[in-house]
Amino acid sequence: MKTSAIPSNLEEEILRLKHEMNAVILAHYYQEDDIQDIADIIGDSLELARKAAETDADVIVFCGVKFMAEGAKILSPQKKVLLPDMKAGCSLEFSCPPAQFKAFREAHPDHIAITYINCSAEIKALTDIIVTSSNAEHILSQLPKDQKIIFAPDKFLGGYLNKKTGRDMLLWDGSCMVHERFSERELIKLKEQHPKAHIIAHPECPESLLSYAHHIGSTSSLLKFTETHPAQEFIVLTEAGILHQMHKRSPGGTFYPVPSALDGGACVSCNTCPYMKLNTMEKLYLCMAGGAPELELSTDLIAAAKRPLTRMLEMSASLAPTAIRNS
Ligand code: 13P
Ligand code: SF4
Repeated sequence: MKTSAIPSNLEEEILRLKHEMNAVILAHYYQEDDIQDIADIIGDSLELARKAAETDADVIVFCGVKFMAEGAKILSPQKKVLLPDMKAGCSLEFSCPPAQFKAFREAHPDHIAITYINCSAEIKALTDIIVTSSNAEHILSQLPKDQKIIFAPDKFLGGYLNKKTGRDMLLWDGSCMVHERFSERELIKLKEQHPKAHIIAHPECPESLLSYAHHIGSTSSLLKFTETHPAQEFIVLTEAGILHQMHKRSPGGTFYPVPSALDGGACVSCNTCPYMKLNTMEKLYLCMAGGAPELELSTDLIAAAKRPLTRMLEMSASLAPTAIRNS
């Protein structure tokens, strides 16, 4: 008979191991519901980086994608960082290969490079300042108006920021496979079916979709909007994992995820991130039980990538914390 390496009391075992290892479990809003519920802290990219930088745990178990776990290692190099599935990449990261980005930078020597945190450690090492969707506008507002800037890798976030700030940043041609494929036709249908609903969108969406939105912001900003706005119905243009916290924090609210354009809008689960969803409770348990896969980076890469990440943390120090702590 086949014996399973997965215990039946999975949650209990994860909590026991967490205690034993002196670990902290960090989770992004796009993780599956059970992972969000067992994590110590749930947050957006900025908050998870802040928590990784300040934790006194010995081990950081990162339930998110690889660039996020790399960020944790860069900011806390003395800690062991575990990622349940090392294949949890990001289409934005893949759209910006370091050799091409280096050549692009060299072709524009009078520009500084501002890079969205959704990129590899190698790209961070080639960057002046990292930003997230929570702090990009705030950081740009601290730079001279005539500063020439390359923005990578998300052309939609970059385009949104150009419009919002009046800048003319040179944009890298990358995009998020989840946010660029929401169906505009399905969005229009939802809007007609629920005329009182407010439309909220992540700035990784193309401008054609953002033009419908009542509110645009990072995952934490969208969550805050649904918690504090008097409206009861929301049409959500971001990865559907965040609906878990929206339901929890606004039990009377109704949330409509927008289907992806794949399969003519018929595929309701195509609006989820295939990379984020590689992490499962089973893999979370196995990585804690076996101490692997562990995220490792060379000392030189950590030193080079730390500079723009630390600059980001310093330039956004005045922004209020938004992370959710499970008690
Ligand atoms: P946030 O920083 O807004 O959580 O975004 C992360 C991300 O990957 C969005 O696709
Ligand atoms: Fe990357 Fe998009 Fe997934 Fe976010 S949702 S991790 S940007 S592929």
